[in-house]
Amino acid sequence: METTEQTQEELILGFLSESGDDYTSGEALSGKLGLSRTAVWKRVEALRTKGYRIEAVPARGYRLVEVPDRLTSLEVSPLLGTHDLGRTLHHHAVVGSTNEVAFRLAQDGAAHGEVVIAEQQTSGKGRRGRAWVSPPGLNLYFSAILRPELPPQRAPELTLVAAVALAENLREFGADAAIKWPNDVQIGGRKVAGILTELSAEPERVHFVIVGVGVNLNCQAEHFPEELRETATSVALARGERVHRAHFAARLWTRMEEWLELYLETGFDVVRARWKELSSTLGQDVLVRTDRSELRGLAVDIDPSGALLVRTEAGQVERVLAGDVEQLRPRQPQSAR
Ligand code: BTN
Repeated sequence: METTEQTQEELILGFLSESGDDYTSGEALSGKLGLSRTAVWKRVEALRTKGYRIEAVPARGYRLVEVPDRLTSLEVSPLLGTHDLGRTLHHHAVVGSTNEVAFRLAQDGAAHGEVVIAEQQTSGKGRRGRAWVSPPGLNLYFSAILRPELPPQRAPELTLVAAVALAENLREFGADAAIKWPNDVQIGGRKVAGILTELSAEPERVHFVIVGVGVNLNCQAEHFPEELRETATSVALARGERVHRAHFAARLWTRMEEWLELYLETGFDVVRARWKELSSTLGQDVLVRTDRSELRGLAVDIDPSGALLVRTEAGQVERVLAGDVEQLRPRQPQSAR
């Protein structure tokens, strides 16, 4: 299909979405698009063959009744409020890992804000060499290519930027989400989303960062392997209702871009403050496992660069840069003796 036709279809969908339950006349659409009424009708017909239900009533016009549950730019673009993020969308039915596809695209010069999205991943990657379960057509798996002007040592902060946007978005969609340090997003103590950030840099300068995000939106318990059923969840499981994936993705990217711009303009402090409000880790007894050691203590804060500060039984405050956190039972207030 020609790009102009796709753009026209995206514009029609944009205008119809804006009107909600109201009708938009064929005349108004043809005026907005600079097309004849017949050309508008042809594009509406083309959209119908792609699964859109568009009602047409004589003398009133068109109304969008149903959008197919897909994640191409046709579904997402009309809902986006971004300048860059997701404006170029590489949609795949199946990939190994969106992070790997995005990494190659970025090496070949893809621009800031391009996003790779897939309906299914066959080897989705999690942190620390784990797999990310990615069944088809149910959830969200995407990788954003970012080219921020940052020294490489500040790149991990971007993971917290994404975590803040993700937790806020889940809350907007009715899930009581919280962030477990550094970047797991949970509902009721079960993991619902994760972020895998990968970096290409030279000592002084970031070339690009790939922020890979997986969100369990509509999968059911049987989609998780047995060993994850007690510890993982989805938004649909938590709130008892399916989530419109394109709507969720568009709102998330809009939020991510807003947070990213604020962070790049004003620094990490504002992100850190919001992260603390959304976190379930601080004030908890934790067990932190790194590649080489284990540490137990009270999670007291995150420092100005996003590292977790843990006060051990011995009273020492340790700075944790990377690791897996297990949140132990909340500390009980000490009873008077
Ligand atoms: C984690 O372990 O918590 C991070 C999970 C990140 C999964 C996402 S899904 C989209 C992107 N592509 C991948 O292969 N991984 C990330």
